[in-house]
Amino acid sequence: MAGPKVILIGAGSRGRDIYGAYALETSKMDIVALAEPNDQRRNSLAERLKIPSNRRFRDWKDLLSVGKIADGVIIATMDNLHVEPAVEFLKAGYDILLEKPIDRTLDGAIKVYLYAQKYKRRVMVAHVLRYTKFFRKVRELVWSGTIGDLIGIEHKENVGYWHMAHSFVRGNWRSKEETAPMILTKSCHDMDIIYWIIGKKCSKISSFGNLMYFRREKMPEGAAERCLDCKVEDTCPYSALKIYLNSKTGWPQNVISEDLSYEGRLKALREGPYGRCVYACDNDVVDHQVVSMDFEGISVSFTMQAFTFEMDRRIRIFGSKGEIQGHFGKSEIDVLLFGKEKEKIQIESGDIDTLGHAGGDFYMLDDFVKMLEDPNYESISTSIRDSLESHLMAWAAENARLENTVIDMENYRSENIDKVYKKIFGEES
Ligand SMILES: NC(=O)c1ccc[n+]([C@@H]2O[C@H](COP(=O)([O-])OP(=O)(O)OC[C@H]3O[C@@H](n4cnc5c(N)ncnc54)[C@H](O)[C@@H]3O)[C@@H](O)[C@H]2O)c1
Repeated sequence: MAGPKVILIGAGSRGRDIYGAYALETSKMDIVALAEPNDQRRNSLAERLKIPSNRRFRDWKDLLSVGKIADGVIIATMDNLHVEPAVEFLKAGYDILLEKPIDRTLDGAIKVYLYAQKYKRRVMVAHVLRYTKFFRKVRELVWSGTIGDLIGIEHKENVGYWHMAHSFVRGNWRSKEETAPMILTKSCHDMDIIYWIIGKKCSKISSFGNLMYFRREKMPEGAAERCLDCKVEDTCPYSALKIYLNSKTGWPQNVISEDLSYEGRLKALREGPYGRCVYACDNDVVDHQVVSMDFEGISVSFTMQAFTFEMDRRIRIFGSKGEIQGHFGKSEIDVLLFGKEKEKIQIESGDIDTLGHAGGDFYMLDDFVKMLEDPNYESISTSIRDSLESHLMAWAAENARLENTVIDMENYRSENIDKVYKKIFGEES
């Protein structure tokens, strides 16, 4: 394979389906080693990437111990295993593509930013929406002044009822303790895109929301701990049988088991977390949340809603001369200039745009390759400093929600960055 040499940490869903797939389908980067504790995942991806057995490792630490063998590293482990490998690979001289969130804690995210500065390395964070043609066009329309002065934004993340059940009730991101609050794990993308479109830092933030529905007291009569034993399963829209035991074997079915046969999936529903009743899980993240933000006078409202039919993002942007209405899932943008005819923009989609996150995943990887090929390439769209901003916004929103308050972002930003700086570098500060 051609292109810069890269090592991959984690061959799970993202490692395999995005990073492995990009290397295989485009040949623009060469994954020369990988670390993954799961034998089946490690070997099956390594075989396809033609990685020799002495370059396949069970743990990222084993891979690190062989010294610097590539230009960059992709860290695609779960949220609770980002900071430690990121810091160690920075020390070892690697540039990094790091999965979002940077860390499940704000201190951890700041730590990666500070270490990237200390070791003068470049870290990209996988805020993939910035790389989609759709959001690039939306931003271009705002920045070119098409709708006049920017006055406000209304952004909605419609999670989708079954996606909520899959990821945030039964799945990996259900627990604040194990990963992080939903505003970070799901909506740091949205915080990031709002900040990027406006091009200014957030000044004030407040938030409301809670876990209203996916709770034990909402369990209907006749329901059981597992869908396979449930007497009312056929009337339940969140039934695991409906979501996982159908004719499809892509995402999310491929998350529940390595064995995607009907029997394999049935076993996973009988024994694993994805067969649990949605009212009887150990979830604690919110199922709806609103965030109000002020950006130096520009007002923004964001809604994350689980109870939606569609799984999509929608955005309305208000300017002094007109409005933009965007429907991400349909790649449609309406430009409604006051007193003029509506202009409909349909974002053209090539082959790539049908892949992960409307092409965002692969375009982001193109940028990562460009960064590795050019030591002076600094204009990375999703640099660690820029990405830290979305994490600061998400944590401030969570604090505001829990403390029923409005947070002044300038203080919040400097207090948190200073605190972590002092903790790490002590008196040097
Ligand atoms: N950018 C995006 O839009 C986007 C979308 C989905 C997920 N994510 C993020 O990507 C990350 C990975 O998510 P996923 O769905 O692929 O999770 P996953 O659980 O499918 O994959 C993580 C992999 O890391 C492996 N791993 C665990 N310990 C390891 C170790 N010590 N060394 C090496 N590998 C180890 C696991 O065995 C697993 O295969 C998460 O942080 C998630 O939040 C980002």
